[in-house]
Amino acid sequence: MPSYARLLASVCALATAANAVHPVEVNGKDFVNSETGDRFQILGVDYQPGGSGGFSGKSDPLTDKDACLRDAALMQRLGVNTVRIYNMSPNLDHDDCMSIFNAAGIYLIFDVNSPLEGGYLDRTDPESTYNAVYFQQVFGIIEAFKDYPNTLGFFAGNEVINEQSVKDVPAYVRAVVRDMKDYIKKNADRSIPVGYSAADIRPWLVDTVNYFMCEDEDEPSSTSDFFGLNSYSWCGRSSFTKSGYDVLTEDFAEATLPVFFSEYGCNEVQPRVFTEVEALYGEQMSKSFSGGLIYEFTQEPNDYGLVKLNDNDTATLLVDYENLMKQYSKLDMSAIEATNETATSLKPPKCGPGLIKNSTFLDTFDLPKRPSKVQDFIDNGFVGQVHKGSLKDIKSQDIPQTIYDHNGNEVTGIRLTALANGETNAPGNHTSGSSSSSNGDDEESAAGKMSISLLGLVAGTAFMAML
Ligand SMILES: *[C@@H]1O[C@H](CO)[C@@H](O)[C@H](O)[C@H]1NC(C)=O
Ligand SMILES: *[C@@H]1O[C@H](CO)[C@@H](O)[C@H](O)[C@H]1NC(C)=O
Ligand SMILES: *[C@@H]1O[C@H](CO)[C@@H](O)[C@H](O)[C@H]1NC(C)=O
Ligand SMILES: *[C@@H]1O[C@H](CO)[C@@H](O)[C@H](O)[C@H]1NC(C)=O
Repeated sequence: MPSYARLLASVCALATAANAVHPVEVNGKDFVNSETGDRFQILGVDYQPGGSGGFSGKSDPLTDKDACLRDAALMQRLGVNTVRIYNMSPNLDHDDCMSIFNAAGIYLIFDVNSPLEGGYLDRTDPESTYNAVYFQQVFGIIEAFKDYPNTLGFFAGNEVINEQSVKDVPAYVRAVVRDMKDYIKKNADRSIPVGYSAADIRPWLVDTVNYFMCEDEDEPSSTSDFFGLNSYSWCGRSSFTKSGYDVLTEDFAEATLPVFFSEYGCNEVQPRVFTEVEALYGEQMSKSFSGGLIYEFTQEPNDYGLVKLNDNDTATLLVDYENLMKQYSKLDMSAIEATNETATSLKPPKCGPGLIKNSTFLDTFDLPKRPSKVQDFIDNGFVGQVHKGSLKDIKSQDIPQTIYDHNGNEVTGIRLTALANGETNAPGNHTSGSSSSSNGDDEESAAGKMSISLLGLVAGTAFMAML
């Protein structure tokens, strides 16, 4: 291309550059907005339309633009700022969906593993699966998402340390964290946090977080940047003490990295009322936790959904959606975003035998050597079948799909609101749509926000009554 044409092209690219969220980074124990320095706590949902078995590699949750528009608009309305996605394909085009979520002010955290052949570390045989084929998936996911500003982080593993795992597994997961961090440092334009998502196995919990957060002089990049916990101990109208949240708060009080629920939302009592939300973002717990992700956005056979996708291309907002929206709307965002100089300047402890008190299998910091092919990917960048991301400009727009509330009434006017540059979604800020419902809902199932017209009517009636 002649140079004036290249110049023109780059000027045009600048002129049409999309508004973008500010990347989130880790400072000590907190996530922070890299531009404003405000604390960032995760108000999130787990997102796996089709369920955990629904992944074939030919499509993933970010390949259907229409579905992303609908779901991003519904999440924006709900008050969500982060989504976790479990299974992704590096070679598919995610630009439309990532741009839609970016416009909605929503970040994403990706698991780098895939359930397909060669795409995961086998917990019964880590040695033979820690190889270059596996790293094509791992580095492929990093390559596919590193250029989007709303990529919040990557999970190196999910619940791989459990009763079935062999003794070496923790060291292999720490090695994967190391390799991912080295890859990002060499090949990405910014630091993107890498962490682990743990099962809630109480006897090992403190040891597990200590194992991942500590600093090892021989392997400095193997320290995790954050720690996710999948925990379902608060069911129904439980309490801080009955649910054991008090113990978790205590367990993570000394953590030197951001800790959050990578899954929460027990469904043993239905409908779910999500009273744990108030506790999680309250004063006591937010010293230990940076929020969490509700399991899960879509209704699947295991019955944890907030939204049901119907066969006729419509969607129904379940009572759980409305209950969660109501809980989110009570939160005090200024407290949630308050900066804390002590928390953001914490440094990790040194790894060593004194740190691990109760688990014989979490005691080795002797990590496996990375295969030479993997070193090669790090040094030269992974050039496999990867679609590299780039952001598009997305305008505010009404969603085309028909949406029903839990009573079957149509909710009209649901809209994706494209946010200003640097703005993050927050509860109560973008609650488009109103239901045609007028029959008296019970307290718990009523939506968090009345529609504007209904409020106007109520206010008008009150005014008339005063006269
Ligand atoms: C240590 O492990 C034992 C058995 O696995 C468990 O009963 C105990 O509660 C654990 N202690 C701590 C402090 O986690
Ligand atoms: C679509 O399916 C839902 C759920 O089965 C139903 O409530 C709704 O009436 C259907 N809408 C249309 C337009 O067929
Ligand atoms: C700030 O962080 C420190 C360290 O985690 C904590 O002890 C303290 O309570 C926090 N302050 C507030 C106001 O949350
Ligand atoms: C939400 O809206 C309020 C009021 O308009 C505004 O002050 C606040 O900054 C918004 N929150 C975010 C995260 O943009």
